[in-house]
Amino acid sequence: MNKRPRDEPSSSFASAPKRHFGAGGGGGGGYGGQGYSEERSSARRVADHYSARSNQTLEERENSPIIHLKKLNNWIKSVLIQLYAHPGDCVLDLACGKGGDLIKWDKARVGYYVGVDIAEGSIKDCMTRYNGDTDQQRRKKFSFPARLICADCYEARLDEHLYEDAPFDICSCQFALHYSWSTEARARQALANVSALLRPGGIFIGTMPDANVIIKRLRETDGMEFGNSVYWISFGEEYAEKKFPASRPFGIKYKFHLEDAVDCPEWVVPFHLFKLLAEEYDLELVLMKNFHGFVHEYLQKPEFAELMRRLGALGDARPTALPTDGKQCKQRKDVSHRGRHRYSWSIKAEM
Ligand SMILES: C[S@@+](CC[C@H](N)C(=O)[O-])C[C@H]1O[C@@H](n2cnc3c(N)ncnc32)[C@H](O)[C@@H]1O
Repeated sequence: MNKRPRDEPSSSFASAPKRHFGAGGGGGGGYGGQGYSEERSSARRVADHYSARSNQTLEERENSPIIHLKKLNNWIKSVLIQLYAHPGDCVLDLACGKGGDLIKWDKARVGYYVGVDIAEGSIKDCMTRYNGDTDQQRRKKFSFPARLICADCYEARLDEHLYEDAPFDICSCQFALHYSWSTEARARQALANVSALLRPGGIFIGTMPDANVIIKRLRETDGMEFGNSVYWISFGEEYAEKKFPASRPFGIKYKFHLEDAVDCPEWVVPFHLFKLLAEEYDLELVLMKNFHGFVHEYLQKPEFAELMRRLGALGDARPTALPTDGKQCKQRKDVSHRGRHRYSWSIKAEM
């Protein structure tokens, strides 16, 4: 494994949050994305939304109306990490949030961790969690050194800030890449960052909503909004015809509300175009599955079934309560593939 030597002690440290707004972005995409300032303010809105979300106590978390969904999402991320991370790996966690995956990376015995997120509040919470200072945590000591950075992963050229940390063996972007599809420039910068920072043969894993399911549900509904008691998705009147020309795949915005979790704009990511764009950045798709398929396949493995049981992700409900018809994909980088990046991916199904 191509791991770089580390001299940092394996005690806890994290860099102070920094903001890097930078060089990489640019204006609206060639496919007619949003204007620059609107794009910037949408990104800010997302950042402010996540920044303002405080850490929940264990009791609040267990009482959450979406606790089983949260546990299922965590199970999926755990499985992905266990499948693709190796002991000693250098990890880049794009849109790391409050560090909800730190324990998963610790279990995989990774060697180094860099987390980047646009939300200052989340980076602070992540640092608190890393340092073992949260109420619900018994002063957990992580076995890997970490660096946390506050930056817009879809605008900043991260390689300019992380040249001392790169290359990374594995890059993860969980439930967040869809925030990059507001413009072509941002979607490209996201992939350029992944490609520039991964070592040849490294791996990219992630999860995001399924565009096909979202558009299908929109077309099935009479109005511009659909959902249930815990979530709703709403499109603007500009999409009243419910047509989404292939010539304009970026900037397709909807509002997403998920009780107790999310309330901000998101963007549709047509997966076949994501795959094509990723290929331009030497990232080759090796696996894609929806959550149903993913759960079905990996529940067959005793260690993952045991993890599901421990997490209690299925609760009283059976898989019918799980996301229905989304997609999920995984890809793997292959060292024998002449240095071409591959990535593992999973697309989050719509609820
Ligand atoms: C649904 S949360 C997922 C957090 C984490 N990956 C997880 O799975 O727990 C989405 C995260 O994406 C982050 N995010 C959104 N846009 C971003 C951007 N442009 N750059 C970096 N982070 C971003 C948000 O701040 C938020 O923490």
